[in-house]
Amino acid sequence: MTRLFYCLSFIASILFISCNSTETAATTGVTKKDWDEADNQQVYLYTLTNKEGDVVTISSYGGTITSWVMPDKNGNKSSIVMGFDSITQYLEHPPYFGALVGRYGNRIAKAQFKLGDSVYHLAANNGPNSLHGGLKGFDKIVWDVSVPDSTTPSITLKYVSKDGEEGYPGNLNVTVVYTLSDDDGLKIDYTATTDKPTPLNLTNHSYFNLTGSPKNSILDHTLMIDADAYTPVDSTLIPTGELKAVKGTPFDFTTAKKIGRDIDSVPGGYDHNFVLNKKDTSLQKVATLSDSVSGRQLDVYTTQPGLQFYTGNFLDGKFVNRDGSPLNLHTALCMETQHFPDSPNQPAFPSTILKPGEVYHNVTEYKLSLIK
Ligand code: GLA
Repeated sequence: MTRLFYCLSFIASILFISCNSTETAATTGVTKKDWDEADNQQVYLYTLTNKEGDVVTISSYGGTITSWVMPDKNGNKSSIVMGFDSITQYLEHPPYFGALVGRYGNRIAKAQFKLGDSVYHLAANNGPNSLHGGLKGFDKIVWDVSVPDSTTPSITLKYVSKDGEEGYPGNLNVTVVYTLSDDDGLKIDYTATTDKPTPLNLTNHSYFNLTGSPKNSILDHTLMIDADAYTPVDSTLIPTGELKAVKGTPFDFTTAKKIGRDIDSVPGGYDHNFVLNKKDTSLQKVATLSDSVSGRQLDVYTTQPGLQFYTGNFLDGKFVNRDGSPLNLHTALCMETQHFPDSPNQPAFPSTILKPGEVYHNVTEYKLSLIK
């Protein structure tokens, strides 16, 4: 009898350990799986897991962050970036969901710019302007991905953009490193070199909803942006050139406020570049987004001078998030760290021209936590 008891308790403890270990099965590091094909190339999906068991998935197609799963204040897990589990929706070109954007994130007026003695013509894919790198920007190519160490949640993406691609000059070598830290910081480190002068403005176009579902509007999220000025735009969303003070306008996010508070006074919603207060190119905190329902908070750190705050004004329900909820107006938002829109045509804006011999280097970190 005693022997039977010991025997049963031994089996029970084995079962307990194995059940438990299934729950905590996530191993820190990177795993890779075949996802599908795009552009006649194999596409892989990389899963980055940190010591907390929080998980980011990134596709080699577009260098796209497809999900970032972290528990809310009640321990319920969901992805705070909106996206899809299958590549099919990505191949239908949802507007830059989670993707790396280049060569030039944001707009270039009249789809052209002058550099030296030459005028370069780009695809006019946004009214008269060129948007986010043209017809086949860095969001629609398959990146070459390597995993330096599978026990560290970090991957390196490379792409060589050929001289003349999408109308831009110079062979451009781009490297992007994504790293997930144990304290839930997702760092995106961009470097690039060129053999001819070229405009360059790299960013990531993740759509955030801290509740984890587009069922909930982002108008109830609270946002702080450390910017005393923004760049007003014309009817085609090209900056007028003015740096306008936010004080006394709906663009004042210097003190945290609900995104929905003043949005009705901004025709179409927010889709504007904020001139960050930071005075140098060091990595600094520039924005804090929070949501009291989920208890989640997202801090944005960057080396860049600008932040395009976009309230999903063109989302119309055509795409359906992984939880089955349609992505409608104002159900997700973007905080695209970058240089100012149309800089190649605006000499007063900080330069975006990368020259041969120089190394482009920018870092942005999105840091997720629970509100303290
Ligand atoms: C950026 C632009 C927006 C829109 C989205 C994609 O945020 O500023 O105007 O084009 O990309 O839909």
